[in-house]
Amino acid sequence: MAIKQAKVITVTSVKGGTGKSTTALALAGLLSNRKIKTIIVDMDLHSGVISATLNLKINKDFYTLVNDYMNHNLKELDEYIVKYNDYIDVLSAPKDPRSVGKISSYYIDLILKKLKYRYDVILIDTNHIIDDINLITFDNSDDIIYVLTSDLMDLKNMKTMLAIYKDMGLKNYYLVLNESLSQDHVDLYSINSFLEKNIDYILPSNYYLKNMKKLIMQGKIFTLEKQYQKEKGTAVLNQLLDNILK
Ligand SMILES: Nc1ncnc2c1ncn2[C@@H]1O[C@H](COP(=O)(O)OP(=O)(O)OP(=O)(O)O)[C@@H](O)[C@H]1O
Ligand SMILES: [Mg+2]
Repeated sequence: MAIKQAKVITVTSVKGGTGKSTTALALAGLLSNRKIKTIIVDMDLHSGVISATLNLKINKDFYTLVNDYMNHNLKELDEYIVKYNDYIDVLSAPKDPRSVGKISSYYIDLILKKLKYRYDVILIDTNHIIDDINLITFDNSDDIIYVLTSDLMDLKNMKTMLAIYKDMGLKNYYLVLNESLSQDHVDLYSINSFLEKNIDYILPSNYYLKNMKKLIMQGKIFTLEKQYQKEKGTAVLNQLLDNILK
């Protein structure tokens, strides 16, 4: 019998501030609503926001885990992980960003492989930079979600990235246009024509939640709150999950 391994879903972008972390948290909430055991791994190692957004108290983080691994002093994985609710665990980005330079991608690979045996889904938040950390993360991912806005630089960088994916013959990515954080409205036809690739999902402009700051202060994931479960944007993210998990 094959051993079940987690589905690895990575949320990334080609530009900062497009709504990656918010989308990753929203997806975690939806997975929790489905009772799917999920770990959010905050691979935005220099400036991760997941544990702070969720008001989690962190003793150990990604760096502690790597450091203990390197020094043959690895404890139970649970010691490095913080529980948010019955279905969502979190592996936090390093509290001290100065330690990130000491994390080798070799250990990132080992850690992700270890986590695959413990969860149904590994949900990874990243930054938008193409470095060794993100490349090894992408290599370990089943599905990669690009959250982009209609900002021209975002579209231009996305076009370059699509060319790279084409060169590598990889198709395991989805394009999610986040209209809720887009400054200018550009029509979908123009975006698809420019990218020479269709946008897969659209988070509508009215998915911009006025209450977001309050929810963050309270450490809440909005997709776990009843009032946001009927939003069109939530339905879109559920469709994306249906497609990934099918
Ligand atoms: N749907 C939304 N409604 C209201 N505010 C939002 C929404 N989505 C994101 N934001 C806010 O916009 C800002 C950027 O979002 P977020 O942090 O998710 O982007 P990011 O791509 O992860 O950024 P970074 O590149 O810095 O990691 C944050 O302050 C976040 O709270
Ligand atoms: Mg982020």
